[in-house]
Order: sequence, then C-alpha cells, then structure tokens
Amino acid sequence: MSASRACLTCASCGRVLPVRAPDTSCACGGLLEAQLGQQLGGRALRARFDARLARDDAGQGSGVWRFRELLLPGRGALVSHPEGNTALYRRAALERFTGLADLRLKHEGENPTGSFKDRGMTVAVTQALRAGARAVACASTGNTSASMAAYAAQAGLPALVFVPAGKVAAGKLAQALAYGARTLLVRGDFDACLRLVREASAALGITLLNSINPWRLEGQKTIVLELLQQSRWQAPDWIVVPAGNLGNTAAFGKALREARELGLIDRLPRLAAIQAAGANPFYRSFKTGFRRRFEVQAETVATAIRIGDPASFERGVRAIRETRGVVAQVSDAEILAAKAIVDGTGIGCEPASAASVAGARQLRRAGVIGARESVVCILTGHVLKDAESVMDYHVARRRRGSNPPVEIDARVASVARFLPR
Ligand code: F0G
Repeated sequence: MSASRACLTCASCGRVLPVRAPDTSCACGGLLEAQLGQQLGGRALRARFDARLARDDAGQGSGVWRFRELLLPGRGALVSHPEGNTALYRRAALERFTGLADLRLKHEGENPTGSFKDRGMTVAVTQALRAGARAVACASTGNTSASMAAYAAQAGLPALVFVPAGKVAAGKLAQALAYGARTLLVRGDFDACLRLVREASAALGITLLNSINPWRLEGQKTIVLELLQQSRWQAPDWIVVPAGNLGNTAAFGKALREARELGLIDRLPRLAAIQAAGANPFYRSFKTGFRRRFEVQAETVATAIRIGDPASFERGVRAIRETRGVVAQVSDAEILAAKAIVDGTGIGCEPASAASVAGARQLRRAGVIGARESVVCILTGHVLKDAESVMDYHVARRRRGSNPPVEIDARVASVARFLPR
C-alpha cells in the first residue's frame, strides 16, 4: 500500500475529500469510495484481528469493529450493538440439494436486527455522529430501515424511513415503527423511494444512510473479512450473494481487492451475484458483457430485492470483473424451493436470502461451479423477517413439502396419530 492518508474519492470525477467530510455522495452526483490509509501488512493485520477474536474485546466484541483498521479511520465513540460474529453452517441436506460437496452458509440474519445491514449501519451511523448529522434517512425494501431505525435510536438521532407502500414484509415494517423511526409509506416502488430520499436529504440537510453512503460499504466488507477469518484466511473458491441494489456485491469486491492487496489472502474467490428473475437488471447487463445498463419494473416474492435500477451498478460491475465473477437469475419458484430446504434444516432465512442457495444450485447444474469447489452462500436475513411468505407457503398455498398446522381437541387421543409410526 502507498503511504497515503485515508480519504474519500469520487468514482466519477476523481475529487478527493477528507474522511471526516459530512458528504455521503459527491457534488457531481458520483458515488464516493473510502480509500484505506497506510496499513500494516497482511501477516501483522491477521495476527491483530486473530488476537482480538481470542480476547473477544474488540469494539465490545463486535464482529465489525474487530476489523477497524480497514473501516473508519479516527477515534471516538462507536455506535455498536455489537453486531457481526455470525455463524458458518454446514448441512448435508443443502449439500444434496445443491450438488456441492463443500458448501457453507454464512447467516447474516443472526445480526442484532436480523440482517446484514447492521454491519454497514454501525459504521455509517458512527460516522454520521462524528460528522455532526442532525437526522438520518434511507429508502428501503425493509431491512435497511429496520437497521437504521435501531442504530439511530441508539445514537439519539431522528430517523426518517421511506418504504414502498404495501411492499415491505411486516416484520421489517414493525421494527422501523418499534425502534421509533418516522416511517413514510411512499406510493411507488423502491426505486422511487430512493430517488425521493436522495432529493429530500440533499434539500433538507439530512444524512443519507443508503448504501450510496460509502461508510455502509466499509462495514459490509466485514461479512467477507469475518468469513475469511473463520476459514483461517483460506479463501473459498466461490462466494454467492443475493443481489438487489448491489451494495453487498460492491462491498464484497472491495473487501476482496483490499484483502489481496494487503496480503490477508493470496488468492481471490470468485463472486456470484444472484438476482430474482423478476428484478434482474444486473443479470441482463452481465449477459451483454456489461456493455448495456438496464432498468426494469421489478416484481418478485423476494421483496428485499425487488429493485429495478440498482444504485451501486458501476461498482457492482467492477466487483464481478475483478473476481472473474458471474451473475445469475433465479425464478420465484426456485427461491421458494431453496428457502424450504434452508428452513427445513432448522437454519431458516427470508426469501431473498435463499436466492444465494438457489443460485449456487443452478450454477452447479450448469457446470459453472465444480462439484468439489468450496462455496460459501450468504444468507442475508432472518426467517422471521417475512413470516407472511412462510404462512403463504405452508398454509395458504400448500406447496410441495408444505407443513400446515393442524387444529385439534384438547385430548390425548387426538395427539397419537401425529406421531411417526
Ligand atoms: N437480501 C436482503 C435480505 C436484503 O434486505 C437486501 C437488500 C439484499 C439481499 C440485497 O442486497 O441491495 O446490497 O444488493 N435490502 C435493501 C433494503 C435494499 O432496503 O433493506 P444489496
């Protein structure tokens, strides 16, 4: 690494801003990216991160702030729950379902508000406070708003949430209300919400906490850093991630680029970004070799990724190119089938999360991923986020393998027939 200081740079016009700047995007409209300052080498950094894990005291035990050298420079209080420290699971049923012999699932639904968003939010809210924010806002398909509401509550910042009316899972909406965010149900889709919140925050001097905000991505890098650490710094062959607004895809690409440059790892995993077929602008673009960019009218059961015009498109492209990655699309039926298997192992996840497992299965079948390659699928959100989809699957529609509840009289005789013979 160069001996430069940490800063923010604009991906479009090249402008350089100091780290403590309150800006969350460039005056030219381009997206800002955090640049690491001078760093220790990989061996020394690994030793430091591993020692913190052993002591378990980094940033009060946070699986994000353990990696603080690679996140937000400068000192000050942290707004941390704490977050991170999510498990990596192996399940035989999922290996059979996908045809992959070495498959692990990293469950980001185990974060404090039930999704990976907490990793980005702890960094972005910490930075917002340091930069003197008076209020924070985001557009959301649900999880970002739940997470922002919780961290804003902890920080004592007023929070304004913009969500598409009627298109947010009840668990997520309930969280935003419970944590005390002022919640606006916008007549329009997520893309309309994002346009509105960008304009409103610029006009009203509110700090924008969508993944456009560079500090969100810095925090989300720790999904990859933590999974590398859990793998003793041996990178898997593939990391498979659901893709909507492309914040995670971009953050994963940046984490891997930096991890390789610093010598934390010596080879890059390939990224596979998985979209819902009804919300597939990134997949369509991939099919043209990224020569064209698309905007679609999005519709999918996986409401978390019901997004037609992803904000981090350019940096998503960079992440896929730099990791020799791929983009795939999966149907709603494939998503629900994969979710039923994940749920049935006792792990559980929300529909969008299951896109990663459905995508891994499809890429294995197409021969893109080899049967013996090591794969980590990211589960992005908790099963209880979207209880409606579970009830719809098992009760209302009775799909294959569905498990409806049975009403009985309160007598032992009514119970016996439910025991396996
Ligand atoms: N999975 C879940 C559960 C999500 O909530 C999201 C995004 C994604 C995957 C896609 O991640 O946008 O980084 O590509 N949810 C955002 C929100 C849009 O508002 O909660 P991405």
